[in-house]
Amino acid sequence: MRYDPILKNVEDFTVSSCLTLLCSVNHCSITTSEGLGNSRDGFHSIHNRFTGFHASQCGFCTPGMSVSLFSALLDSTKSSSQEFTVREAEKAVSGNLCRCTGYRPIMDACKSFASDVDIEDLGFNSFCKKGDYSLPRFVCTFPEFLKDEIKSIGSGSYKWCSPESIEELQSLLGACKANGSDDVKLVAGNTSTGYYKAEKERSYDKYVDLTRIAEMREVRERHDRVEIGAVVTISKVIAALKEMRLSKIMLFGKLAAHMEKIAARFIRNIGSIGGNLVMAQRQHFPSDMATILVAAGASVNIMSLSRGIDKVTLEEFLQGPPLDAYDLVLSIEIPFWHHKHSELLFETYRAAPRPQGSALAYLNAAFLAQVKEDTKVIINCRLAFGAFGTKHAIRCKEVEEFLCGKVITDNVLYEAITLLGKIVRPQDGTSNLAYRSSLAPGFLFKFLHSLKTEKQPSSSHLDQPMLSSSQRVPIDREFYPVGEAATKCGASLQASGEAVYVDDIPAPTNCLYGAFIYSTKPYAKIKGMRFKEKSVPDGVVGVISCKDVPKSGKNVGFKFSSFTEPLFADEFTLHVGQCIALVVADTQRHADSAASLAVVDYETEGLEPPILSVEEAVKKSSLFEIYPFLYPQQVGDTSKGMSEADHRILSSEIRIGSQYFFYMETQTALAVPDEDNSIVVYSSCQIPQYVHSTVAASLGIPENKVRIITRRVGGGFGGKAVRSMPVATACAVAANKLQRPVRTYVNRKTDMIMTGGRHPMKITYSVGFKSTGKITALELEILIDAGATLGLSMLMPSNIIGALKKYNWGALSFDIKLCKTNLLSKAIMRAPGDVQGTYIAEAIIENVASSLSLEVDTIRKINLHTYESLALFYKDAAGEPHEYTLSSMWDKMGVSSKFEERVSRVRDFNGSNIWRKRGISRVPIIYPVSMFATPGRVSVLSDGTIVVEVGGIELGQGLWTKVKQMAGYALGVLQCDGTEELVDKIRVVQSDTLSMVQGNFTGGSTTSEGSCAAVRLCCQTLVKRLKPLIEKSGGPITWNNLISQAYAQSVNLSASDLYTPGETPTRYLNYGVAVSEVEVDLVTGETTVLQTDILYDSGKSLNPAVDLGQIEGAFVQGLGFFMLEEYITDSEGRLLTDSTWTYKIPTVDTIPRQFNVEILNSGRHEKRVLSSKASGEPPLLLAASVHCATREAIKEARKQLRMWKGEDGPSLMFQLPVPASMPVVKELCGLDIVESYLDWKSKVISSF
Ligand SMILES: Cc1cc2nc3c(=O)[nH]c(=O)nc-3n(C[C@H](O)[C@H](O)[C@H](O)COP(=O)(O)OP(=O)(O)OC[C@H]3O[C@@H](n4cnc5c(N)ncnc54)[C@H](O)[C@@H]3O)c2cc1C
Ligand code: FES
Repeated sequence: MRYDPILKNVEDFTVSSCLTLLCSVNHCSITTSEGLGNSRDGFHSIHNRFTGFHASQCGFCTPGMSVSLFSALLDSTKSSSQEFTVREAEKAVSGNLCRCTGYRPIMDACKSFASDVDIEDLGFNSFCKKGDYSLPRFVCTFPEFLKDEIKSIGSGSYKWCSPESIEELQSLLGACKANGSDDVKLVAGNTSTGYYKAEKERSYDKYVDLTRIAEMREVRERHDRVEIGAVVTISKVIAALKEMRLSKIMLFGKLAAHMEKIAARFIRNIGSIGGNLVMAQRQHFPSDMATILVAAGASVNIMSLSRGIDKVTLEEFLQGPPLDAYDLVLSIEIPFWHHKHSELLFETYRAAPRPQGSALAYLNAAFLAQVKEDTKVIINCRLAFGAFGTKHAIRCKEVEEFLCGKVITDNVLYEAITLLGKIVRPQDGTSNLAYRSSLAPGFLFKFLHSLKTEKQPSSSHLDQPMLSSSQRVPIDREFYPVGEAATKCGASLQASGEAVYVDDIPAPTNCLYGAFIYSTKPYAKIKGMRFKEKSVPDGVVGVISCKDVPKSGKNVGFKFSSFTEPLFADEFTLHVGQCIALVVADTQRHADSAASLAVVDYETEGLEPPILSVEEAVKKSSLFEIYPFLYPQQVGDTSKGMSEADHRILSSEIRIGSQYFFYMETQTALAVPDEDNSIVVYSSCQIPQYVHSTVAASLGIPENKVRIITRRVGGGFGGKAVRSMPVATACAVAANKLQRPVRTYVNRKTDMIMTGGRHPMKITYSVGFKSTGKITALELEILIDAGATLGLSMLMPSNIIGALKKYNWGALSFDIKLCKTNLLSKAIMRAPGDVQGTYIAEAIIENVASSLSLEVDTIRKINLHTYESLALFYKDAAGEPHEYTLSSMWDKMGVSSKFEERVSRVRDFNGSNIWRKRGISRVPIIYPVSMFATPGRVSVLSDGTIVVEVGGIELGQGLWTKVKQMAGYALGVLQCDGTEELVDKIRVVQSDTLSMVQGNFTGGSTTSEGSCAAVRLCCQTLVKRLKPLIEKSGGPITWNNLISQAYAQSVNLSASDLYTPGETPTRYLNYGVAVSEVEVDLVTGETTVLQTDILYDSGKSLNPAVDLGQIEGAFVQGLGFFMLEEYITDSEGRLLTDSTWTYKIPTVDTIPRQFNVEILNSGRHEKRVLSSKASGEPPLLLAASVHCATREAIKEARKQLRMWKGEDGPSLMFQLPVPASMPVVKELCGLDIVESYLDWKSKVISSF
């Protein structure tokens, strides 16, 4: 909130703290999520809604979500309607990222505040029932005491100055120039430093804040134009264009609507219109603002010290030489376009990976046309294109001239588009070059088409009401409170921002900060290392490398049983991204900046060339051994199966790329040296036990001198299993060497480059099948790129085959190789191998269907397992016949999703739509999981409260919540007080490796079950010890009395145990079915998921709310893998998509618009933990249904294109790669689709 002491008014807005300069918050009071409400003063209703709607998992994104929602609510109070509508609610968090929840529950929490919501339409929640709905308190006031403290910073000797008038600014800049200082920075919102990261690091002599200059902050309406001050924020520009008289001008409404897709609300709230245009002008930023304003005929008022004030058109401004540091954009003018006797048309377009913004466009465009009302002749037009790999937005004047004086016909359209193709050409080196070029004709076609009388291509779905959902969740009270949809432990703390993650632990005295220096070569000798510019950059205290590992220790950054991997590269680097050293400095900023200044000298002479592909690895026999017990078993005789087949597809090839974890909390650790040569490490990790042994081994100290503490992890997804170990160990080695605490919070780019992700692989298969589609044999060769070191890659073969066996292939054989390359070592990411196995299976099924010209759904159904074939493929993991629920789930899903009816609706839609095609797919999954040993301890304190420790780590998967419920159930059998009272007394605490040994790992989806089983054993021991006291008491006894007596009689009230799966099969199968329906825009390649229906077997769910969250969250993460996340490297393995600008995880606007989930309670399974089943990873595989549906839609597009092009058209036997991103989809639908259509049309017409 900013207070204006002269006007005495308060203005409120939300900002992104990482882009806000400290001095710019002068005159402001800052409210964080914790300021809205907290555990001491009471939580805010926003926090309570997040908890009640189960909208927080790891919780790392939740304070940001809360503040974004708060901001949207505040904004709504300023609008003319003063209403917060469902539509507003859906945009409230569109710029925020969450990797856990899948957004649906967050959306529901937001919608619960909307004035037009029907509470009964809201998703599954714990409190929001009709009649139980209170209006929130979302008012914040500027503290009175601060008003008196406000002082303006003068323009004198400070580095930061805030002139209040143009004259003051002029004299200030004049003085700077006269002093010969060129190191001056004009600052408006400072958001450009989010894109130009180097700017963030740079320090200037003088910062001139433009935001206090009244003339530059105003929106003025003139008689023929609107003039917008350059520092007016984009949010205010939008508000101004929507309000006032301007809203009646169609052009302004369109501009405002497009501007709402620029960045996110918290960027638009401080980012200015002028700042955007200067970025476009000076640094060739791919701006939307520039493109749409060029089309709108805007001009710019510039003030320079030498020339005074100039007015130039925006095009001239963009084309001119880069603005001088002292040149100032004063304002932007947009004409009203009076248009007597003519019709004005104006449209804007953008193709971007995210429809609602928060992603730069592949290409944007805006078109204005004045058309004679009677004759429809074009009198005037402006066609602007930008962001396509050009220096700045351009106008296509040749096309404009061509169109003027014409009426739009197919021929005119064709010629205009042909002409355009020669002009809109991205610069060489631009990514997705052909795709970007193909967008321009598509958009122009859409626009000009609207000038014809024919039906217009349909508008975007996002103009319509958006998301809806349903959840069918069984509540089973047999083991109450287990089975209850209890809210997540600590969710309100997460929402308010009070939850403590590693980086929130206050820095101990003398704390230092580390940043990694990593290799940029795949295979080279390390000759030396130095820093650019200075020999020792600011704040640097030391550079820790393998030489600093104590003599008694070993250079290990990963130790798992007898497997080890080096911590720091020694003489040679083995891959790009390998850790070479940790530079340690007095602040994280200094450490990061020093790491970016590090130069490593390499030598490659005389070395073998690096192995950069799986094929080369095979050629050079560079393979990791796969232990026989980890190698999956073949099924049946494939030669026989092949000989029985009517058809065969031979040696077909599939390639699959990687995926990055994108946990919100990047890798982080804090190491604190302690007495007697011991060390405590706070680590965000999934396997504290192995972090522990790795740290001990690296320091060469006994394990009893190491203590690893992990309270909670801000998202792991497998990335904090192995990859957290070198991070914690490097901090420990540095702390040991310098005898000072050392911490690191790895920045996103380094995390992406060093951590790795899913295993890429190449698959070659031959499949034999009958004419009915029944498959008789499948033979596979799978080459997995494990990278330079083994890590946990040995798990991959059995995981891939485990998921692939979901169909009855008749007979199955494979040859799997784990290739050792000079590429980044791959890590196990949520559903590792299983997701690839699912994709491979579906690609084969689709290929079989295409070659037989049969429906894919028919081929899937015919190849589903019977219980007998299931038992043959999965052996004893198949369980009892009644446990095999998949085939009945397949049929149930057919009915509940109205599959057949929708298939025929999709067919009708495709028959009557040229530019949009739909596809629908039903996909089954089978996912084997294993149980493993897990410890637990339950202790009762003297006041009756209970503390629980488990080996499993709370990563957001709700482990603590389930454990708490289990403790409540297992102790509840004593029937002292009510179960709720008992549960309220339970607290699950952080993992501490000296307190609880043999913690094992958190992963593989079964840690919650295992931890619950361990806690149950502990509770059973306590119950056994307490029961005699109850019997002695002879009547009802309260819990507190019982515990008092136990304390008095020295009954041991702490029990620990280790759950081991023991005799029962350690593996069981999880089942699910999903139906997804998508719509593909053939002009842009954008895929909209219209509807997804999921049916998932959770056994007797331990907590259906938690499992629902896991199902939805995993599905959306899978959606990212299958559809969005492009993990692109160069030929030597350097990651090119290494930031949020280029790597796009799903956002709220990319999830299914109708998202229905049903959890199936498949009843009792004696051998599992209270009959429950896993939910963490398997549902991720269900996202394959979206990919398969997209392929169906593309097939329809290709059929149509074949009709237009005849023999030259595309084949219907094609493979859809992963991810099916917009460029990929568009390419398969036809980059020249518009031209082909017009060409075909002209031929058809001429043949009549
Ligand atoms: C995450 C993110 C996503 C984004 N997505 C989009 C998008 O999709 N489309 C799009 O068009 N834009 C996008 N942007 C850009 C955003 O609109 C700009 O960052 C913002 O408008 C810049 O305004 P500012 O006030 O913060 O500029 P600042 O950062 O303060 O300034 C930018 C530059 O202009 C100079 N400057 C500022 N004002 C003036 C002036 N009046 N006269 C002379 N020089 C000046 C500054 O010295 C600096 O060099 C995105 C930005 C971010 C951070
Ligand atoms: S809950 Fe959103 S990132 Fe984890």
